[in-house]
Amino acid sequence: MLKRHWLLLFTICWWQLTIQAQSSIIPRPVAYRPDAGVFVLDADTRLLLTEPALAGAAQLLQRYVQEAGVPVAVAASSGGNAISLKVDSNRVPDLEGYLLQVTSTAITLTGHDLAGVLHGIQSLRQLWQPGNARLRIPACEMTDHPRFGYRSMALDVSRHFFSIDFLQQYIDLLALYKFNTFHWHLTDDQGWRIEIKKYPRLQSVAAWRSATLIGHKKETPHRFDGKRYGGYYTQQEVKQLVRYAAQRGITIIPEIEMPGHALAALAAYPQLGCTGGPYAAARFWGVFDDVFCAGNDSVFTFLQDVLDEVMYLFPSTRIHIGGDECPKTRWQQCARCQQRMKALSLKDEHALQSWFVQRIEQYLNSRDRQIIGWDEILEGGLAPNATVMSWRGEEGGLQAAQQRHPVIMTPETHVYFDYYQSRRNREPVAAGHYTPLQKVYSYRPAATLADSLQRYIIGLEGQAWSEYLVSEQQARYMIFPRAMALAEVAWSPDSLRQYDHFLSRLRGQTRLLQQYGITADNRFDEVVLDKVTTRPGAVLLTLSSTAPEGAIRYTLDGSMPGLNSLHYTQPVVLTRSATLKAQAFDRLGRAVGSVLEQPVTVHKATGAAVQLTNKPLARWDPGSEALVNGIQGTHRYNDAQWLGFSGSDGEAIIDLGSEQSIGQVRMNWLNYHWQRIWAPVVLEIAVADEGKSFKTVFTQTHFGINGINPVKAVIGTLPVRYIRIKAINKGLLPPGEYGAGSQALLMIDEVIVE
Ligand code: ACM
Ligand code: ZN
Repeated sequence: MLKRHWLLLFTICWWQLTIQAQSSIIPRPVAYRPDAGVFVLDADTRLLLTEPALAGAAQLLQRYVQEAGVPVAVAASSGGNAISLKVDSNRVPDLEGYLLQVTSTAITLTGHDLAGVLHGIQSLRQLWQPGNARLRIPACEMTDHPRFGYRSMALDVSRHFFSIDFLQQYIDLLALYKFNTFHWHLTDDQGWRIEIKKYPRLQSVAAWRSATLIGHKKETPHRFDGKRYGGYYTQQEVKQLVRYAAQRGITIIPEIEMPGHALAALAAYPQLGCTGGPYAAARFWGVFDDVFCAGNDSVFTFLQDVLDEVMYLFPSTRIHIGGDECPKTRWQQCARCQQRMKALSLKDEHALQSWFVQRIEQYLNSRDRQIIGWDEILEGGLAPNATVMSWRGEEGGLQAAQQRHPVIMTPETHVYFDYYQSRRNREPVAAGHYTPLQKVYSYRPAATLADSLQRYIIGLEGQAWSEYLVSEQQARYMIFPRAMALAEVAWSPDSLRQYDHFLSRLRGQTRLLQQYGITADNRFDEVVLDKVTTRPGAVLLTLSSTAPEGAIRYTLDGSMPGLNSLHYTQPVVLTRSATLKAQAFDRLGRAVGSVLEQPVTVHKATGAAVQLTNKPLARWDPGSEALVNGIQGTHRYNDAQWLGFSGSDGEAIIDLGSEQSIGQVRMNWLNYHWQRIWAPVVLEIAVADEGKSFKTVFTQTHFGINGINPVKAVIGTLPVRYIRIKAINKGLLPPGEYGAGSQALLMIDEVIVE
């Protein structure tokens, strides 16, 4: 028995050592073989430089080693312990690939190209274990190359401004995880952030807004901080950052938004808008009607001048020209825009936008640059050489690939890091939705696209829109570690992707992340409510946690869960209303993350059959049973509880299974006009006995609360088997309202029958 224990212990230790050696590396390398021995990097080690083209890479490695506390010299030859850097595209056939060989006496890093050498250096950093003026690097051989050639993170610096120090740190982090592109979203409605020498008012006017919204845009009335806010990057700073990034293998792609998201530029040069203004940089978030006039040639003169200076600053082949969220309201009213459409026989304003984008494309193509545009540039016809960035899901990207255009996938369902990563109340206000780490990691890009078209998917990008990234610290919190999950999706072979394995390596990254101000945080391990199912009269809650070797403990009596509370081993079955409180604990009994608190209401319709007349919008369709599963959707409505009907009416019939006498029917309707969510125009509740002859018992036409509107219908003593809820959708949003002209979303959750 004792012997077997030792053997087991030995096996575990050996296994942990192997894992540990590998564990530090994100994204997971294509092939990794641990060998016996350790290379000790100390003051006697030399960085061998034989190829002048790798001088920058050698200096970078030298700097990293020095930062880790070891003074190390670059030399042309060496007698002993040395690290050599090489490029050999025969030995390493894949673009950006590298071969890293570590023995106890030598490290050889061979890249396919400079990029490959730089990626290999990052792997080396993740492998070494610091201590006592030396770094220990376990012997191994690693063969590695990326899955996608374009691996990028974006940052919006318009909604909030980020310092150059922060941007350098961001680029360091991107390089560490083998991204090769930084998409710099430089202009938007709320501020223009790049110095353009020919247009000084972009600096003195467009870079500034008079105040900023406090809290989430959905909260009304809107409140503002009254503080002038802004700033811009000088051309000198831009040039330095471009160089800083290039030294680390990162290309910076600038984005100059057009024709929409242009309010800040219009504030500086009002003659570029359809109405002539006056305009002011926006103080809050959203989509604004005032855009560049497509009928005015001076708009193109302005944009070409701007792009000339941008091209001078950024050597990137691709330039992002935006193209998303451009309302056509002004163009429809503008004589010059209408004249342009007539002169060019353009059939509608979408065709006008397509013409606008193509005109800019021609200009950039004539200077050997290519455009990237958001997927809206598909509408009205794609510019001939454009790369499409697919953000409203993958649909646009798939269409573009079918048209044989390069595609960058950045679906907001999986890689928008301004969305919530946890559903806990303590989270800082975020844009909305729910994109936990695991969901990012689970992303399978273009999985439905034919093999023959896969080569058009050139890569992936994660988004960091900064409406709610109110500080640099919060930006770090929202972006990491989710960007690391994306890095692995973009780099590692699909077959090597395994979430548990990723998490074990992520835990090994704490020390490196701390260097960049990212604090270790195990919120992704905390207990989550995975699934809610029902049986008539019962709610079943499935919980999970990724805490290694951990346990989930829970209570149902309102007390805080501790180590002696009920041990979760199978779904919790509730046949009476209660609040579930659950906490994950690690192997040593320490709490992991925060407590999950979930109130559950078990009522007469719990688990009843629900029949819907109209289908909810796919994104807001958790299944009709969510209406009667005992869980009430919250004001963040990212909890997979709310059913949302876009433009269509909501009608549900709930079957209690048998005639009963019921006292009341309650339900919640969501009302957030700034999110295009409108409570019903008319709500009617009817009940019926076995005979199904419905009798209206309740009508409501006024929903005054911005947020959750509770409704309570008192039924009386009728015998009831069926309950019918009929809600008339607001339909097309009227002029003057946010989202005017688009469909209202009607959202309901939990119908409680008591
Ligand atoms: C976008 O998120 N509007 C591209
Ligand atoms: Zn116009």
